[in-house]
Amino acid sequence: MSLQPNAGSQGEYAGLLSIRRYHASRGDHGRDVCLIPSSAHGTNPASAAMAGMKVVVVACTENGDVDLADLAAKAKANADRLSALMITYPSTHGVFEEGIVEIARIVHAHGGQVYLDGANLNALVGLARPGDIGADVCHMNLHKTFAIPHGGGGPGVGPIGVKAHLKPFLPGHDAAGTGHAVAAAPHGSASILAITWMYIRMMGANGLKQATMSAILSANYIAKRLGEHFPVLYRGKSGRVAHECILDCRGYKESAGLGVEDFAKRLMDYGFHAPTMSWPVAGTLMVEPTESEPKAELDRFCDAMLAMAAEAARIEKGEWPRSDNPLVNAPHSAADTLADDWAHSYSRREAAFPPGVDAAAKYWPPVARIDNVHGDRNLVCACPPLGDYAEAAQ
Ligand SMILES: Cc1ncc(COP(=O)(O)O)c(C=O)c1O
Repeated sequence: MSLQPNAGSQGEYAGLLSIRRYHASRGDHGRDVCLIPSSAHGTNPASAAMAGMKVVVVACTENGDVDLADLAAKAKANADRLSALMITYPSTHGVFEEGIVEIARIVHAHGGQVYLDGANLNALVGLARPGDIGADVCHMNLHKTFAIPHGGGGPGVGPIGVKAHLKPFLPGHDAAGTGHAVAAAPHGSASILAITWMYIRMMGANGLKQATMSAILSANYIAKRLGEHFPVLYRGKSGRVAHECILDCRGYKESAGLGVEDFAKRLMDYGFHAPTMSWPVAGTLMVEPTESEPKAELDRFCDAMLAMAAEAARIEKGEWPRSDNPLVNAPHSAADTLADDWAHSYSRREAAFPPGVDAAAKYWPPVARIDNVHGDRNLVCACPPLGDYAEAAQ
């Protein structure tokens, strides 16, 4: 193990460097090709590029799995230069991919190493071990699976674990006289590792296994309750998902003129921060409930999604125009809803207190719909003089 990497992505970088140094130690200096399935997270190709590797993309089949024939062909075609495969398991499509062991076998057979992206490790802890599946290196996003708080994008911790043959090539540190560091401090963000340690100790082996099973059960519960109105894009052979599910909203574009953003913004009126939007598939919501939500909260979320489906049905029937309904105008701020003028086709009550929203616990979005794309394309940099702060303080 190396505790040095400060994020999952940095774990990827550290793991790939270990693989490079392993190949080099065997005189295999030309192994620089990294196979990456098209379903991968963007950090995978970025890390491979930073580690000096050439990325070769492996196709996925229609059901979202790695295309085994394409993988075998590309591993063979690059056999002399194959360095590694990066693969996420369970996949970013939220499925326990059945071909995983065969995938690892193919890569090893052509001289490559298997890097397992452990971003979804909370679907494995206590149930399966990455090493048994065929991984040579795996990172653990402690901020996803092991209780490190991840608000506002940090602090991340992304240790890597390796099989014995890669141990000599783990990151070292100048302070230890070994070099090859990937972070400034020898043990990364050592002070926050105590949180993960305490979490593991307090949960115990059974508790961790229970958490994994609850996370998987919760995702399947959501998939089951919502699948009729928001088709679940990918499932395993058994019809089940892993620890997350991708809900397809694209059908509502034609039937009601609604895009995924309308559902995401309307969720704020129902008191929810939207789940991941348009990743890994545009026009969808990816829901990862984890083990932390009680059933009442899962039901509150499902009820809100079903209530939005009912709102969409009213648009489909022509009760509300496509251009003026609670979804396309969401979210509704207090200032909008309480304004003297209200010229919409639906009532103020329907705007602010949709079914299931408790008036006494209402969350009021502070701003109405913003133009995300405009914001992304027009950087505004404000550097007010220090005097302004002094004035504001007074
Ligand atoms: C599949 C996958 N890989 C890698 C990462 C990168 O992890 P980090 O944000 O810790 O750098 C993520 C992050 O969301 C992910 O989902």
